[in-house]
Amino acid sequence: MSLLTAKWLPPIVGVLAELRVADHLADGPKTPQALAGAVGAHPTALRRVLRAAASLGVFAEDDQGQFALTPMAQWLRSDVPGSLQPAAVLFTLEPFWTPYAHIKHSVLTGEPAFDTVYGTTIYKYFAEHPQQAALFGATAASFHAQGIADIAATHEFARYETVVDVGGGNGALLATILKANPGVRGRLFDQPDVIEQARTAATFDGLTDRVEFVAGDFFQSVPGGDALIVKSCLHNFADEQVIQILRTIRRAMPSHATLLVAETIVPTGNGQHYAKLDDIEMLVIAGGADRDEREYSLLLAAGGFDVQQITSCGERFSLIQAQPST
Ligand SMILES: C[S@@+](CC[C@H](N)C(=O)[O-])C[C@H]1O[C@@H](n2cnc3c(N)ncnc32)[C@H](O)[C@@H]1O
Repeated sequence: MSLLTAKWLPPIVGVLAELRVADHLADGPKTPQALAGAVGAHPTALRRVLRAAASLGVFAEDDQGQFALTPMAQWLRSDVPGSLQPAAVLFTLEPFWTPYAHIKHSVLTGEPAFDTVYGTTIYKYFAEHPQQAALFGATAASFHAQGIADIAATHEFARYETVVDVGGGNGALLATILKANPGVRGRLFDQPDVIEQARTAATFDGLTDRVEFVAGDFFQSVPGGDALIVKSCLHNFADEQVIQILRTIRRAMPSHATLLVAETIVPTGNGQHYAKLDDIEMLVIAGGADRDEREYSLLLAAGGFDVQQITSCGERFSLIQAQPST
């Protein structure tokens, strides 16, 4: 039963995040009536949702009927480093929620339910909905903050002259690598609209003389360097497309260069792991897959690479190091 009723949890947290209730509690506890006035909600309905959230450890009600922040609720404040406010909103946004009502379509066909519900892919949908795309970017940045720190700390990037972040998004990983390795130069590569946003973002403050921003399509060509890193991109795509992307990357790489694939890897066995559920998000929404070590090795071989080593970086990510095959 707890598995079946789990569907109630994200919308409770999501709506409180969307209404920015945690921000309104930053200066101390408030009654549901005061909060409802501040966020424009129905007082009794808001109290019921807050009581349910408090039963999960997000917010707490005191003897006077006032609600306060808890350590978990602090993550829903929009002004804290690593805030999960954008993630809480995004995860319960219609395009990330409705397709799950059609999961059977994905299971029967192997195709993303998203595409049948919205008549387009998630990528084209984002291109047409810049606000939701920006929310996705903010979510990725906060959601991956720990993973980015772990990846930057795990690998010795100082040995490279130029690191290219392929599909680098807002550049959070590249900026972290450059800050930790003052002798390294970077190239951020992504689609034109993403690069335009990254170019003017604060992420690269103080680093702009060491970064080149390159817009393009990783199915066509990518810029070269001594190391090319591609994080959280390959799992968005089906096998044939992953091989195409890898072949494009291979063409850009001199023979001495290193490819680093940062992904969450499905472990063997029946134990719980983030990758096993993220894989379902890839099936239903994106049309990609989270893969195990063997599957990544086979894809990399088909793309023209030999896997050198696979290193675990913290809880979620692994770094697959590969060289162009000879
Ligand atoms: C899930 S995001 C990962 C972003 C970043 N690497 C990270 O880990 O946060 C996938 C990225 O791939 C980019 N992308 C998708 N299709 C692309 C294409 N055809 N060419 C270049 N970049 C693309 C997207 O714009 C997005 O920034």
